[in-house]
Amino acid sequence: MPQTLLITNIKGLAGVADSPPEKPLAGESLQKLEVLENAWLLTENGRIARFGRMAKVPDRADEMIDARQGYVLPAWCDSHTHLVFAQSRETEWVDRIRGLSYEEIAQRGGGILNSARKLREMPEEELYEKALQRLDEVRNYGTGAIEIKSGYGLSVDSELKMLRVIRRLKESSKMGIRATFLGAHSVPMEYRHKRQEYIRIIIQDMLPRIAAEGLADYIDVFCEKVAFTVEEMEQVLEAGARYGLKPKVHVNQFNCMGGIAAAIRHGAISVDHLEVVDNADLLALQNSSTIATLLPTAPFFLNDHIPPARRIIGAGIPLALATDFNPGTSPSGRMAFVLSLACIQMRMLPEEAINAATVNGAFAMEWGSECGSIAPGMAARLIITKPMPSLAYLPYAFGSDLVERVIG
Ligand code: NIG
Ligand code: FE
Repeated sequence: MPQTLLITNIKGLAGVADSPPEKPLAGESLQKLEVLENAWLLTENGRIARFGRMAKVPDRADEMIDARQGYVLPAWCDSHTHLVFAQSRETEWVDRIRGLSYEEIAQRGGGILNSARKLREMPEEELYEKALQRLDEVRNYGTGAIEIKSGYGLSVDSELKMLRVIRRLKESSKMGIRATFLGAHSVPMEYRHKRQEYIRIIIQDMLPRIAAEGLADYIDVFCEKVAFTVEEMEQVLEAGARYGLKPKVHVNQFNCMGGIAAAIRHGAISVDHLEVVDNADLLALQNSSTIATLLPTAPFFLNDHIPPARRIIGAGIPLALATDFNPGTSPSGRMAFVLSLACIQMRMLPEEAINAATVNGAFAMEWGSECGSIAPGMAARLIITKPMPSLAYLPYAFGSDLVERVIG
């Protein structure tokens, strides 16, 4: 007998569809959020079974939850995080308040390299415990599926340590987790004058072992003036492709360097950040199926350029939203605040923000038919909200915790 769960008295069941979506939402369809009012929802063995209006509600299930006029929506799909790290970096944040820039801190060996030093010293067990705590925290914020990157290791042993921690998280958590190998996050100090040697280590020493242990789903490179050039990114992506790793890359955070077009040529699932974009970048995206993932809490925290969401949506490019949870540029994994910033600073409509953080976030992890929408057969990863007057209230009431309960 299937284990059933019935949720009743739902003010609005958001993100419903007859069948799992086939592609991410783009252009005007990003605004289309189907909401069934005064609804119930039945799940069977952790999957969406049926839903309908309260006028005709099933009378029994193994477990019943009264939503008391809260909304139910797909749990957030946070497709870009660096949730495994050893320590916070608030001292550098205070340095930035005093006037130093993120790039200046990186140049002097702080930033990512600071995180790498701390991580190198931390035993795997402790790193795992800390990451698990953060994962529990973001689950309580309503996140149901998440991508987690390595990239604070920057040596064979430490990158493997990070990826093994992510694998343990996959094994121990109910959340959907994707692992991304980001050995090319920063060039370690000792390789600053022999960059190719570090790239050789990524390609010849790290990648084969990661692939042999099946530790990564994707490959990432930080393509930026303070990190890797477009050519270096291409070298790493080419090597990753030999092991079947598709790219999800950091590009256009501070500078337009042609990284978007290059990543697309290598079949990128998503290009992430896009605080700055030029017309060539938009054109390349328009002619691809790559998702533009915006991370508005990072420029908010750095006081930097606001990503041009309206231009991206206007160009018909699928857009996803994620937290970028990391100790340097976004020390928060709270998706609801990402949605608020998307609406307030990037002028996204609440429906667009919700779709970008659910359906499109799921597609940015190649899970679009698994989670991020409420259709029969899909995973029942859900948020039940506190009673609220409308769906727009969720991003409007920034800072409020409106998540009552998380399912799945
Ligand atoms: O996505 N930009 C590169 N990586 C992270 C920041 C990492 C850090 O500063 O620790 C980001 O913003
Ligand atoms: Fe990032």
